Amino acid sequence: PVVRAGSYTDELVQTAKSIASPGRGILAIDESNATCGKRLASIGLDNTEANRQAYRQLLLTTRGLGDYISGAILFEETLYQSTTDGKKFVDCLCEEKIVPGSNNESWCQGLDGLASRCAEYYKQGARFAKWRTVVSIPCGPSALAVKEAAWGLARYAAIAQDNGLVPIVEPEILLDGDHPIERTLEVAENVWAEVFYYLAENNVVFEGILLKPSMVTPGAEHKEKASPETIAKFTLKLLNRRVPPAVPGIMFLSGGQSEMEATLNLNAMNQGPNPWHVSFSYARALQNTVLKTWQGRPENVAAAQKALLVRAKANSLAQLGRYSA
Ligand code: 13P
Repeated sequence: PVVRAGSYTDELVQTAKSIASPGRGILAIDESNATCGKRLASIGLDNTEANRQAYRQLLLTTRGLGDYISGAILFEETLYQSTTDGKKFVDCLCEEKIVPGSNNESWCQGLDGLASRCAEYYKQGARFAKWRTVVSIPCGPSALAVKEAAWGLARYAAIAQDNGLVPIVEPEILLDGDHPIERTLEVAENVWAEVFYYLAENNVVFEGILLKPSMVTPGAEHKEKASPETIAKFTLKLLNRRVPPAVPGIMFLSGGQSEMEATLNLNAMNQGPNPWHVSFSYARALQNTVLKTWQGRPENVAAAQKALLVRAKANSLAQLGRYSA
């Protein structure tokens, strides 16, 4: 039987269920220090620890965020940081009933040491983890690349579950390329078939994972843009063909879509009943306006937090299929 022996099974199922709760999704703020530096540079700020902390503090101390956000993915630095008056970020999240999660990507070159890092993050308060593997379409992906990505994700998922963390499984299929939407669907079907094959082989508990797929869209350089209805149709076709109903939640990445596109596409996918919670785990599509509003100025913090709530609420409504622009 495909059942993990680990003592965490009930807790994993509970954690996954609470993240996949109606009207809520994930705030992804797990940019590495290098990527966070690029975001800060866009508003003229230096990439210092103090600036990264100030920005994360703005996001994580937004009152009422928990109405729309069920989980937050943190970079390792943030997981250990506190507010300027000494409150741990992890505690700020728990007060809003937001589950803290860790990003394992910075060391995903190998699985070495993964178990002990997961155990450490669990002690620090994290209850889920994220691992992203990138698959690219224009020159591939080769069968070998797909197998390698799927196997790595499955091993990570099993190890995370053994250590009490719900694994978010993220094979990101990049938008780059001029291919039509049909080609994206074909590649995504391939990738997810392999991912679920190896997840099963590794005895991963499906009720205790979350997925973070890319939406099925035409390549970013394709001559025609697709409507939210078309994107929803293709993406739901993929999910229905490949994702067992035992999986509690599908938390999409925004992948470079605008804030509005990401909300409208999610809303279109929630116009009928789905066997899983179909929601968001956006980074850029939740943060772009926040950053622009903040500009690194303390006097703009309240306005920037308001902007975050606007995006979070819009995506919450989209999760319920009730957003209108
Ligand atoms: P974007 O929503 O910006 O694509 O980020 C997704 C992600 O994987 C961050 O955790």
